[in-house]
Order: sequence, then C-alpha cells, then structure tokens
Amino acid sequence: MEKIISNQVIAPDIHRIVITAPQIAKTWNPGQFLIIHFSENSERIPLTVCLCDRQKGEITLIVQAIGPGTKEICSARPGTEIRDVAGPLGKPTELHSDLKNVLFISGGIGIAPLLPVIDELHGRGVKITTLMGTRSRNTLILENEVLSKSDNVMVSTDDGTYGTHGLVISLVKEAVEKYGPFDRAFIAGPTRMMAASVSEVQKFTIPSTVSLNPIMIDGTGMCGGCRVTVGGKTKFACVDGPEFEGDLVDFDKLTKRLSTYKDPHTCRIDSNR
Ligand SMILES: Cc1cc2nc3c(=O)[nH]c(=O)nc-3n(C[C@H](O)[C@H](O)[C@H](O)COP(=O)(O)OP(=O)(O)OC[C@H]3O[C@@H](n4cnc5c(N)ncnc54)[C@H](O)[C@@H]3O)c2cc1C
Ligand code: FES
Repeated sequence: MEKIISNQVIAPDIHRIVITAPQIAKTWNPGQFLIIHFSENSERIPLTVCLCDRQKGEITLIVQAIGPGTKEICSARPGTEIRDVAGPLGKPTELHSDLKNVLFISGGIGIAPLLPVIDELHGRGVKITTLMGTRSRNTLILENEVLSKSDNVMVSTDDGTYGTHGLVISLVKEAVEKYGPFDRAFIAGPTRMMAASVSEVQKFTIPSTVSLNPIMIDGTGMCGGCRVTVGGKTKFACVDGPEFEGDLVDFDKLTKRLSTYKDPHTCRIDSNR
C-alpha cells in the first residue's frame, strides 16, 4: 500500500508531499497524473506527478489545499497509508523531436506539471525560458528547481512583491524579444490564465500545449465529467489529455463547465455525454 513519506508546507496552503508508489514510478512519464483515493469516504483527487525517483519508487506531489479532498491529503502525517493511488493516467507530454528553443508559462501551482517537462527537455539540450506568475512572493514555489533547469527565468507577481508587477502574460513580449523565436510554448495554470496565454503566444505565431485541469471523477473515460471541446470535437481530458494543442481548445466552454461545479451541491456524474 502507498504511504506518505514526507509532507512539507512550501507556501500558504501549498504542500510538497512525497509518497511511495514504486509501480507508478516505474512507468510514469512527464504529463501523466494520478488519482488519489485517500481513505474510504474521500473524494478521488487528480494530482500531477511533479518529481519522480524511479530508483527509490517515490513520487513528489505539489498539493494546494482548496477543498475537503486536498485538505485531507495536506493534513496527513508521514507514515499515513493511502487507500488507493491510480496511475499513471493520461497521455504523456508530446515532446516533438525538433524542439530547440521552448517557452514555459506557469500560473500558480501550474509550475508543478511543467517542471517534469522542463527537466526532460533540459536533459535533451533544449534551450528553456520559463515565465512564472504567482499572486505574491510568498506563493512562488519551485523557483530553485526551475532556475537550475532553465536558461532564462522571469517572474511576475500580481501584487508586485517580487519580479515584475502584473500578470504573467505581460512577460511574453519581452521574453520573445530577448530569447525568442520559440518553437513552442507549454502552459499550465488556472483556466483563464491558460486561455489568455494561448492568445498572447498566438500573436508571435508560437504553437502551444496546455495542461487542462477540468473536474475529473473516475479518470478512466467513463463518466464524461472531464469532457472538453478540442478542435470542435469532444475529448476526455483524463484519457485523451490532460495536455492538448492550445490553439484548438474551446476555453469558453471549459470555463462555463468549471463554473457549473463551483457549488459542490450541483456536482454529479454527468450521464448526458
Ligand atoms: C489532471 C489534473 C491534475 C491536477 N493536478 C493538481 C496538482 O498537482 N496539485 C493540486 O493541488 N491540484 C491539482 N489538480 C486540481 C485538484 O484535483 C483539485 O483541486 C481537487 O480535486 C479539488 O478537490 P477538493 O475536494 O480539495 O475541493 P473541492 O471541494 O472539490 O473543490 C474546491 C473548489 O475548487 C474547484 N475545483 C475542484 N477541482 C477543480 C479543478 N480540477 N479545476 C478547477 N477548479 C476545481 C471546485 O469547483 C470548488 O470551487 C489537478 C486536476 C486535474 C484534473
Ligand atoms: S474523469 Fe474523464 S471521463 Fe470521467
């Protein structure tokens, strides 16, 4: 059975949690995620694998405590056993072999799914520029890990307490001028931030990959909870994604679907797929 090895607070309400998961660690690839069913009565919580130590069979998760499921995981002590960990789920990141100069754009804990991709491309000798946006200096996470694997890093904070004052998309133009042209942008963060970032990189004709995080229930393509419209077709983020071509994602529909679930009492398995 998987268990918690360590649980460290790295920012307000954000924890770095290491778990044992030897089977998953063997087969996981960047871009893939897990669904944690923490205890008998818990919700199933999709979480990205941020770091993976194949030899030790350990996985690092970055978890933001925003509701009952994530709060339960974040309050677990080292040694606590986890009822069930399903994964690796979803498709690995498509790492086009012709990538030479790549832009990464993260919002908040969106840096967690991007870090393994940064790591992989850095290992292949690809030039990496990372733009990290966050609310404030104390909510910036994984800065050292990103600095060690990126050629250039630019940070923005909403309140101006660190880096450039403003939204992360305000850094794109400067990054393109200083470090471009970029072959592709990888983007992860809140849905609105991803939509805005896709539009921004389109101005510089940079194709993009976005890591979507719709509501997921089973994670196996059966419930339809995670459906998204991509290129006019219905896709299930849990099995067809969670990464998609940014230009093709219908962000308006995704935002509407996410707002439907804001009140947990309206959340139910959707049989009308
Ligand atoms: C593929 C994938 C990977 C993810 N990786 C991570 C990760 O590495 N770290 C992390 O902290 N979180 C991650 N998430 C989001 C995480 O799964 C949700 O925050 C969690 O399920 C919320 O459950 P809860 O019981 O704590 O809160 P709930 O009570 O279920 O939700 C609290 C509030 O957050 C909203 N919400 C819930 N889930 C989502 C979502 N997926 N997107 C936007 N809003 C949501 C709800 O509408 C509600 O308003 C990921 C989601 C997906 C789909
Ligand atoms: S979570 Fe993707 S279909 Fe159910």
